[in-house]
Amino acid sequence: MNRSCFIITGTSKGIGEHLSRMLLERGHLVVGIARRSSEALLAYTSYTHISYDLSDAEGLEPLISSVIQQLDLENFGMAALINNASMLEPLKPIEQCSSEELTRSLHVSFLAPMILTSTFIRHSEHLSLQRKVMNISSGSGIYPAPGMSAYCSAKAGLNMFT
Ligand SMILES: NC(=O)c1ccc[n+]([C@@H]2O[C@H](COP(=O)([O-])OP(=O)(O)OC[C@H]3O[C@@H](n4cnc5c(N)ncnc54)[C@H](OP(=O)(O)O)[C@@H]3O)[C@@H](O)[C@H]2O)c1
Repeated sequence: MNRSCFIITGTSKGIGEHLSRMLLERGHLVVGIARRSSEALLAYTSYTHISYDLSDAEGLEPLISSVIQQLDLENFGMAALINNASMLEPLKPIEQCSSEELTRSLHVSFLAPMILTSTFIRHSEHLSLQRKVMNISSGSGIYPAPGMSAYCSAKAGLNMFT
């Protein structure tokens, strides 16, 4: 029962793609969520990609619920959710940020991890396996920087939530 199942956001590139590849190489199952997919990850039979825009908060609960239903999680030693996806933008002073830009940024970097965590716990509560949630933060959640108020605030919020 050493094989684990990981649901990871932001697997199309960067840290999420690299982390997924490391876990797949170790024989684990990975379900990746991002708008685009990584060609490299699609080559692994234990990788499943879900194309989804995390700024759409309404669809997150049905998404997690269907992922958990489709996976035979009792066959795994552990199920983990890794909230990795985030967006840096808007990178400008707050008075130049539109409400749409701020809403999108906070939805992807802060609200989506909270909803995914809530629904992941709720929909996997009946299972006897070990469960973990990991949220990827940043030094920006502690150290403010000019023109980065949305990103820094989202990461500070994510720190408090975690
Ligand atoms: N890189 C660093 O130096 C660094 C430093 C500190 C903390 N971090 C943190 O580490 C994590 C990963 O960073 P990274 O540099 O690897 O990021 P990245 O290369 O920019 O990749 C971001 C990932 O998030 C996904 N994403 C962005 N917006 C999305 C949306 N609306 N819906 C679904 N997926 C979305 C992207 O996929 P799509 O575009 O295909 O949707 C992509 O796969 C982030 O939480 C970041 O804050 C990174």
